[in-house]
Amino acid sequence: MNTVKNIFNFNNIPIWFMRQAGRYMYEYNNIKKKFNSFFSMCKNVDAVTEITLLPIKKFNFDAAIIFSDILIVLECLNMKVNFIKGKGPEVVNTEMYNIFKNSKYNGDFEKLNPVYESIRSVKRELNSLNKPLIGFSGAPWTIAAYMLEGNLTKDLSVAKTIAYKNPDFMSNVTYILSDIIIKHIIRQIESGVDMIQIFDTHSNILDYYSKEKYSIDPVKKICKKVKENYPDIPISYFSKDTNYNLGGLYKYIDIVSFSSSVRMKDYTELVPNNIVFQGNLDPIKLIAGGKEMKDSVINILQEMNDKEFIFNLGHGILPQTPRENVEACIDLVKSFKN
Ligand code: CP3
Repeated sequence: MNTVKNIFNFNNIPIWFMRQAGRYMYEYNNIKKKFNSFFSMCKNVDAVTEITLLPIKKFNFDAAIIFSDILIVLECLNMKVNFIKGKGPEVVNTEMYNIFKNSKYNGDFEKLNPVYESIRSVKRELNSLNKPLIGFSGAPWTIAAYMLEGNLTKDLSVAKTIAYKNPDFMSNVTYILSDIIIKHIIRQIESGVDMIQIFDTHSNILDYYSKEKYSIDPVKKICKKVKENYPDIPISYFSKDTNYNLGGLYKYIDIVSFSSSVRMKDYTELVPNNIVFQGNLDPIKLIAGGKEMKDSVINILQEMNDKEFIFNLGHGILPQTPRENVEACIDLVKSFKN
């Protein structure tokens, strides 16, 4: 049985958005002003609790996602991540060849404790609202891409060149990151999250052969391990890819979260029947609003009518999104009847 039914009631179509707590909300921006770095905010339990619950209280989304970041796990390897306004994350990777020189590592997991403490704190408040809390992690390749590049290039050519030229180093990177991710996911579950989403945003950039090796196989290993320990916790897989032929990975996941470029309906045959679909409104349509947004939302809902389905965006909500469009989109989904 698909365990998603344990946390969502499919009598109504559940809706949540990736990055639902973020810069499109002035309440978020006001909290952010009090911190001098993004990660210091991510490690403040009171701030994380408040931010995580903002979109639930203001928009009545059907699930909360713990406010954190996929790159936070690099902290336990003592790698610094700077968030530069208008530029995105920058990983200080000067020590990486030393850190990943073999498959052993020194991980300071204490650094991640605020994440787990925040999960317990959010859960205490969420219980009365009867809504699930989603935990998450990046996939090894996507985290590695940021680390290898330092500052992300458009085509990830730096990360790909390192991966293709130094397979031994890359296999240490994948092995160690997978180990850290497994621990991070299991600790989130033990702290109370009801579901996990794995973000493999940049898997689409690898050629199909290396995608198997550096993206899909490690994610499969991670999900298998998590499922061995916690079979009832649903796992969702997100990628920016347009190919969702994920083979054996479907054995270990419960939800696939689609990017906006695909018509989800085209995958109903290929993807095993028990897998719940999630997605995939274009975040720019949420900015545009009006008829364009409405038509796309209705089209998605109609095409997913025969499936167990969670409404979401094809990628994270953007800072310039008008909140009335968020409200209108949620209304459309919640009032949909076919
Ligand atoms: O979804 C949520 O509300 C939970 C919080 C969350 C954040 N990042 C907060 C955040 C989640 C799930 C993530 C995941 C994440 N982080 C991914 C995978 C999803 C995706 O978008 O592809 C990736 C690749 C990252 C790495 C990352 N963190 C980037 C590329 C950026 C900069 C992007 C940007 O929009 O500027 C961040 C920073 C970040 N993470 C912000 C937020 C709210 C913006 C920080 C700010 O307020 O300035």
